[in-house]
Amino acid sequence: MINIKTESEIEKMKNAGHILAECHNRLRNLVQPGVTTLELDQYVDRFLQDHGANAAQKGYMGYPYAICASVNDEVCHGLPNKKRLKNGDILTIDFVVDLDGWLADSAWSYGVGTISSEAERLLDVTKKALYKGIEKAHIGNYLGDIGYSIQSYAEKKGYSIVREFIGHGIGRNIHEEPQVHHVGERYTGIQLKEGMVITIEPILNQGMPFIAMAQDGWTALTFDGQLSAQYEHTVAITKNGPLILTEQP
Ligand code: MF3
Ligand code: CO
Repeated sequence: MINIKTESEIEKMKNAGHILAECHNRLRNLVQPGVTTLELDQYVDRFLQDHGANAAQKGYMGYPYAICASVNDEVCHGLPNKKRLKNGDILTIDFVVDLDGWLADSAWSYGVGTISSEAERLLDVTKKALYKGIEKAHIGNYLGDIGYSIQSYAEKKGYSIVREFIGHGIGRNIHEEPQVHHVGERYTGIQLKEGMVITIEPILNQGMPFIAMAQDGWTALTFDGQLSAQYEHTVAITKNGPLILTEQP
């Protein structure tokens, strides 16, 4: 069952999304060579508390941290740790904000210091792929339109799309229906209705789309060791078109 949100509920999710976006905006400056992902995790945890919110991922399905921090060939769900980031790394930070029981979810990839032009291009195309999906999030369109739009753009640019991790409905729970695939065919799947709120969160790989799981039981890695990036927004389907609840200032 898909939970349809009222305008006032979407407003509450937007407040959560606003805090999330402000926090990403701060992270942009904090992601530097020498910092550790554990320090970034603690920063986010504190930032959210200072804004009257909570890190919803902490404790979710046993996940122990506020953020997922995935470096280079880590695809997603990387665990914050004490290793220092190096110049040239890329880092995806993903977290969920809970404000008064309403959630918002957004991931962003960052370059650490100066990154290679190949890494820069991967980040650029992955971010644009997200927006290619968002622009299809209109009432009456199909979920398959979103997947098709992302997939055709990303593959045209020479990247592959990870299939194992998908977007989802979101509201009072992190993962609600429907499932939002980042590949697909036009005019397939369910039709979007006013009041649905979904995440769109494509993960693009430089090489093959395949993943492997790390020993820690959480971190997904690229199978071929090449780079991976991800951008994610929480998006409401409204009369006025797609409303991004986690847009950064
Ligand atoms: N933020 C993630 C998503 O985009 C959910 C992370 S699951 C966790 O769907 F277990 F790592 F918290
Ligand atoms: Co997320």
